[in-house]
Amino acid sequence: MLSIIIPTYNEGENVIIISQEIQSSMNMYDYEIVFVDDSKDNTVDILNKLKENDEKIRYYHRNNERGLATAVILGFKMAKGDIIAVMDADLQHNPIILREMINAINNGADIAIPSRFVEGGDDGGLDNVRKFVSYVARKIGQISIKKLRDFSDITSGYFMFRKEVVNNCDLDPIGWKILMEILVKGKYDKVVEIPYQFESRKAGESKMSLKEQWNYLRHVARLLLNSPSDIRFILFCMVGVSGVIINLIIYMILVNMGFSIISSAIFSALIAMISNFILNDLFTWRDIKKTKLNERMSKNFITSIIGIIINVFILNILKLYSQVNYIIANTFSIMLSTVWNYFVNKSWTWRR
Ligand code: GDD
Ligand code: MN
Repeated sequence: MLSIIIPTYNEGENVIIISQEIQSSMNMYDYEIVFVDDSKDNTVDILNKLKENDEKIRYYHRNNERGLATAVILGFKMAKGDIIAVMDADLQHNPIILREMINAINNGADIAIPSRFVEGGDDGGLDNVRKFVSYVARKIGQISIKKLRDFSDITSGYFMFRKEVVNNCDLDPIGWKILMEILVKGKYDKVVEIPYQFESRKAGESKMSLKEQWNYLRHVARLLLNSPSDIRFILFCMVGVSGVIINLIIYMILVNMGFSIISSAIFSALIAMISNFILNDLFTWRDIKKTKLNERMSKNFITSIIGIIINVFILNILKLYSQVNYIIANTFSIMLSTVWNYFVNKSWTWRR
C-alpha cells in the first residue's frame, strides 16, 4: 500500500481539492492519505468531515506544535503502507506525478524524486527571489555534503520511497528538508528523478520564512558535523590556511629581523609543518588513527620536509629569475608544496 503524507498548516481551502485530485489520479491504486495538521484555523474540522466520508483518509492534529519536518516524521510513524509519499497540500505538487513515482518504485527504485531541475522540469511556481534563494540553498547543501551532489532537487517537498529506506534511521531534521535527511541517512541503491512542473499556489499563502531558511543552514551544518568524510575536506583547508598564515607571519618577522630570505622560509615552514601536523592529527583525521603516533609523525615530517624542499626550490628559482616581491614569491611556493602535502598525507600518512 501507498501512504501519502500531507503536512498542513492552515490549508482549509486546499485539503478537499487535493483529496479529490489524488482520488481521481490514484483510484486504481491501493493508497491512504495521512494529513498531519498543525493548523490554527478550521482545517481540522474540514479534515474531520473528509475522514468521515472516505475511509482512505486519516489525520492527526497537533495542538500546540509546529514544524514541517517533524509533522512528516509523525506521518511516517502513522503510515500503514510499505511505500510512502510526501507532498504539499496546496496543489503546487501535481498528484498526477504520483503515478510516475509509483511506477519508478515498482521498477526497482528505492526513492523517486520529482525534480524541477532535470530536463522537462520547471520551478515556475516560485517568484524570482525565492528561485534565487532556493538555488543558493541547494548549492550550499551540495557543496557541504557529497552525497547530495548526485541529485538535482534535494530541497523538494515532493518525493516517494520504500519504507525500508528509513528503517532503523534516526531521522532528526531541523526545519523543513526531510528529503535531505533521508538522502543523507537512509539506506538505498537506486534513486530516480522525474521531471515535473512546480505550479503556483492555488489558495492560502506560503509558510516559508527567514526562520526556516536559518533552520536549513543549521540542518546542513549538523549533517556536515556528523559526516567525517565531508568535514575532512573542510578541516584540511582550514588547517592549511592556518599553516600558511603562521608560515608567512614568522617568515616576515624573521626577514625583518635581518635573517636571509631562504633561512627564514625554512624556519617558518618548519613551524607551520609542526602546527599543521598537530591540527590535522587532532581534527582532520581524528577518526583515522590506526598507525602509531610516531609513525604518523615521521611520515608527516618526511612528507613535509620534501614539501619544504619543493617550497625552497621554487622560491629560489623565483628569486633568481624574476623580480617578484618576496611575499608573493613565497605564497606561490607554499601553495605548490601544499598540494604535494595534501595528496601524500591523504594516501600515506593518514591512510585508512
Ligand atoms: N503540519 C505542518 N506544520 N505543516 C506545515 C507547516 C507546519 O509547521 N508549515 C508548512 N506546512 C505545510 C503547508 O501547509 C504545505 O502543505 C506544505 O507544508 C508546504 O508549505 P508551503 O508554505 O506551501 O511551502 P512552499 O510552497 O513555500 O515550499 C514547498 O515547496 C518547495 C518545493 O518543493 C516546500 O515543500 C519546500 O520544502 C519545497 O522546497
Ligand atoms: Mn507551497
